Amino acid sequence: MADNAPAKGVPVPQRVRVHHLRQAKERREPLTMLTAYDAVCARIFDEAGIDLLLVGDSIGDNMLGHPSTIPVTVDEMVVAARAVASAARRAFVVADLPFGSYEASPAQCHATAVRMIKEGLAHAVKFEGGAHLTGHVELCTRSGIPVFGHLGFTPQSENMLGGKRVQGRGNVAAEKLVSDAKALQDAGAVAVVLEMVPAPVAARVTEVLEIPTIGIGAGPDVDGQVLVWTDMAGMGSWSPRFAKQFGNLGAELYAATRRYSSAVRERQFPGPEHTYES
Ligand code: KIV
Repeated sequence: MADNAPAKGVPVPQRVRVHHLRQAKERREPLTMLTAYDAVCARIFDEAGIDLLLVGDSIGDNMLGHPSTIPVTVDEMVVAARAVASAARRAFVVADLPFGSYEASPAQCHATAVRMIKEGLAHAVKFEGGAHLTGHVELCTRSGIPVFGHLGFTPQSENMLGGKRVQGRGNVAAEKLVSDAKALQDAGAVAVVLEMVPAPVAARVTEVLEIPTIGIGAGPDVDGQVLVWTDMAGMGSWSPRFAKQFGNLGAELYAATRRYSSAVRERQFPGPEHTYES
């Protein structure tokens, strides 16, 4: 039996599917989303009832030691997506298309999205950008691949945007954000992530769209929230202002590691209970 197969007698939870996203919006039930990059964490988040797992290209700066998401490759994303999708029994798994793997044309975007679904076993893909990518969204959607849009601060463009900065400030920028969101919806996107956007602008986009908005640094008036899991759990030395730490896992891991290394150095581990005598 696969390690993640349900134990006998334990009901398999109903999978979150694409139509549940709009349903949640209609019922005003907030969607919960967290990033996940491996099977260990994906299983915990899934069992804890997170609706959507995002295999984010934030794997670059949160797991792989890169300064940003930009160096992340499609091959790295496929491996991570497959691990997450294999572990998640209920959550809907969304995989990011990394920088340079989709922008050039709808055909390039489609080819990368197919890899995420076919090899990565994700249920949907996400990519960054607005109205100029409607052809990309349409082609994926027509091919049966649900697409999440990503507007506001788009980390893959941080060199153009001048760093991690709030987007959509001022009337012109706010209107552009609303029209980009509508264009993505009209092209077939099933949800839109809004990152680092003033709360009133995110609220307006949420009101205008029929598909759900998922906010990160976009205030409370959106249809769901997403956080990078290491920020949520207190794993890093730094986290953005918009991210609340709901735990202190970094300190706990440090303490466990110190206890382990002391026990080895003081020859207290392994004890008789961890030793095979024959
Ligand atoms: O890669 C990621 O983690 C993301 C979130 C910031 C939404 O795209």
